[in-house]
Amino acid sequence: MSEAIKKEGPVPFTKITAERYISSDYMQRERDQLWAKTWLVAGVSQDVVEPGDFFVFNLEPESIIVSRSEAGELNAFFNVCQHRGARLLLTNAGAMQTYTCPYHGWAYNNDGSLCNVPDEDHFSRGIPKDKLALQSLRVEDWAGAIWVCMDPDAPGLQDYLGPIIDLIEPYRPHDMALVEDQTCHLDCNWKAVFDNFGELYHVEHIHPQHELIFDCPTSTNEFFDGGHTRVLIDGFTVNSRLPIPDDVPPTQWAQMETLGLKKEDYTGRVLDVRRDVQLKKRELGPALGYNYDLLSDGQLSDIVQYNIFPNVVLVLQPEEYWILRSRPHPTDPNKCYWDKFALRMLPDTSIQEKATDKFPALQNRANVSFNLDQTSDGTVRPEHDEFDQEAIIAGEKTMTITLDQDIHLIRDVQKGMHSRGFREAWLNDDEARVQHYHSWIDRYMRE
Ligand code: FES
Ligand SMILES: [Fe+2]
Repeated sequence: MSEAIKKEGPVPFTKITAERYISSDYMQRERDQLWAKTWLVAGVSQDVVEPGDFFVFNLEPESIIVSRSEAGELNAFFNVCQHRGARLLLTNAGAMQTYTCPYHGWAYNNDGSLCNVPDEDHFSRGIPKDKLALQSLRVEDWAGAIWVCMDPDAPGLQDYLGPIIDLIEPYRPHDMALVEDQTCHLDCNWKAVFDNFGELYHVEHIHPQHELIFDCPTSTNEFFDGGHTRVLIDGFTVNSRLPIPDDVPPTQWAQMETLGLKKEDYTGRVLDVRRDVQLKKRELGPALGYNYDLLSDGQLSDIVQYNIFPNVVLVLQPEEYWILRSRPHPTDPNKCYWDKFALRMLPDTSIQEKATDKFPALQNRANVSFNLDQTSDGTVRPEHDEFDQEAIIAGEKTMTITLDQDIHLIRDVQKGMHSRGFREAWLNDDEARVQHYHSWIDRYMRE
């Protein structure tokens, strides 16, 4: 582990009972003590690049507008009209110079300033325009995502994320393009689905495909100040607890082929694939249009997942990046929204041109990452797709096979939380990231 990583000591024990998952009162308190105090991913950076671009981030009862002003400045505002409190924007995204309230027609510039009040001379109190501008909140653009914070006294994003900033930057997430934008409505508390991404203990039981490309038993858990964690998992390998197969599993074929590695050459030496994938990516990176210069060899073949407190999971590979986000339901602690933004590094033709053209077979450039499901190539922003968990369970929608498997299971965890027979979670050592996370949930909820 690098010295820069601020690792906490032993994870403090926290008793995890059902209350935090099922209580309406607890959910109510989270609004003030958690959501109003932390940095939250509001959306993706590429949606607010041009002057006038905006999108709306809903975290009920809050709704937040993120916009790029005519002057090019990035802003975030509470989506509420200063006249009588109507929700101002009812559309989720677009480009507009002014926002006009649907109720009485007050209009605001996209920098938040109030620009038009119908019958202004009828306000004998006057219209103090400074006071009546849209209420702003803190906003930052980092790692391809827009981050907002409602608390003016909270630490800045840099301090909030600490060493994680420098650990993620080499992946150049800001250069990646959105290829998928989904929201699934789940019948579970927003923390129940987040917990699911805090441990790999369940992987051997519900994600059998992983044992043929990842080695979860040798993964490394790391813990950061602030409740964040990460896990590093070797890729292009097999589960070390199972017999090593003679032949390379089909889960690795497509990526190997892209890199010019023949699966037949690895019969009887499947464990050599990982190293050779690293070497090939180094050799062919420029010809593929990828700049791998900032990444270590291990990072070329492996996968890393950061759980950012309180509700975001960032999954990073050199060519692909997922932002997963859990949001509470407006009124029901037994429901939540599970968002997935998938981004992909688009091959850079200027790098490719400088590289030799001795690799004409390198056509299918997307196939160097693990997640090959997305159909978009990132040149056009994909439409937002929103659906119910039933659509996943019926096989009508997919968020990738792995997430679908989690979604099949998670509503039953929520059901169990309501039983008199459930007393508290009993975690093993591999679930220490869940423990760490909840100890920080407790810190916020106690304050
Ligand atoms: S509430 Fe917006 S104009 Fe009246
Ligand atoms: Fe899972």
